[in-house]
Amino acid sequence: MAGIYIHIPYCRKLCHYCDFYHVISKDNKQPFLDALNKEADFRKDYLGKETISTIYLGGGTPSVLLASETGSLLGHIRSIFNIEKDCEITIEINPDDVTGEYLKDLKSQGINRISLGVQSWRDKDLNLMNRRHTARQSEEAINEAFNAGFTNVTIDLIYGIPGMTSDDWAANLDKSFSFGISHLSAYHLTIEPGTVFGKMKEKGKLEEVDEEESTTQFNILTEKAAAAGFVHYEISNFGKPGFFSVHNTNYWKQVPYLGLGPSAHSYNHYSRQWNLRDLKKYIRYAGSDKQLFEKEELDLKTRFNEYMMTSLRTMWGIDLEYTERTFDKEGYDYVINTSRKFIEYGLMKQEKNALILTNQGIMISDNIISEFMMPGDNS
Ligand SMILES: C[S@@+](CC[C@H](N)C(=O)[O-])C[C@H]1O[C@@H](n2cnc3c(N)ncnc32)[C@H](O)[C@@H]1O
Repeated sequence: MAGIYIHIPYCRKLCHYCDFYHVISKDNKQPFLDALNKEADFRKDYLGKETISTIYLGGGTPSVLLASETGSLLGHIRSIFNIEKDCEITIEINPDDVTGEYLKDLKSQGINRISLGVQSWRDKDLNLMNRRHTARQSEEAINEAFNAGFTNVTIDLIYGIPGMTSDDWAANLDKSFSFGISHLSAYHLTIEPGTVFGKMKEKGKLEEVDEEESTTQFNILTEKAAAAGFVHYEISNFGKPGFFSVHNTNYWKQVPYLGLGPSAHSYNHYSRQWNLRDLKKYIRYAGSDKQLFEKEELDLKTRFNEYMMTSLRTMWGIDLEYTERTFDKEGYDYVINTSRKFIEYGLMKQEKNALILTNQGIMISDNIISEFMMPGDNS
């Protein structure tokens, strides 16, 4: 079992919060698609004999590609990898790229999961974030996805946006759950250095929401999601039973994956590597011996720390049996000792053989996770 992630770096407009690798143009689209095919050919043995259970087209904005281009790309992937019959194939789509015909074409290519970047139902927030679409277009896009026959539809929302009150956020969630979506990713806005928001913050032109407001909005999120029948299975992810993202869940469960495209990450238990964030170099060098990526070999301590970081984000938590089997008694004892005070403070709980963050723990997950990091390596 393994996954394939494909990064499509093109965007039509710059979102003010975004730090993902992207270019605002459609320059070199065909050479880029050729380069992706070459990289796939060149790296086809990276996952050994594993079959492919998930494919994820992310970005950037994959819906900048024509449906026919997505079809050719997936056709090439199918011709070189062993794809499982019920493979989950997700594509991220911007609402204003949606037409009924486009979605039908995607469906006929075997794409079975649609991820729509709604972000907010308030046009005021969309303007502030420099999104291309209106709330009305997001509504139409969701309806079109259901009309085209997709049953696995997820949307992205952002909370903690400056100027958005708890009531606004509650209304955003109510509206989202009114559509019969099966999955929601809800991210607290992070203001990354170097982004437009980062620069605005530096100049004092953007004020981040305070901690109390963030906590209130997070609590509204967990309550409303639970009331709508969604399981909170990862810090930012909520799914109806049977609709958790298999691709992302596999990242958190140490399933190997191959990342294609500029900035894409790959992982195979023993090493992690990430492609250059440079479209021109990517096009020039993909499929050649020229080193396109940086690589980190994962020693046991790094693997331990990665396991802590990913497992604590999920509702499955740290599996103590797996910890002992993989990281020996030293790793097991370290986890048990570190967890004691968090359990005492109600930030963590032990369920059967797993250590899991409580809702209170999730609120300060970054601090807790950092205490589970074993010192002494570079991670
Ligand atoms: C790679 S992005 C973009 C996918 C798609 N092109 C779009 O814009 O809708 C995936 C998601 O991460 C979230 N995201 C990206 N940067 C963020 C930030 N700085 N703070 C909070 N959420 C962010 C957004 O919800 C976004 O939809």
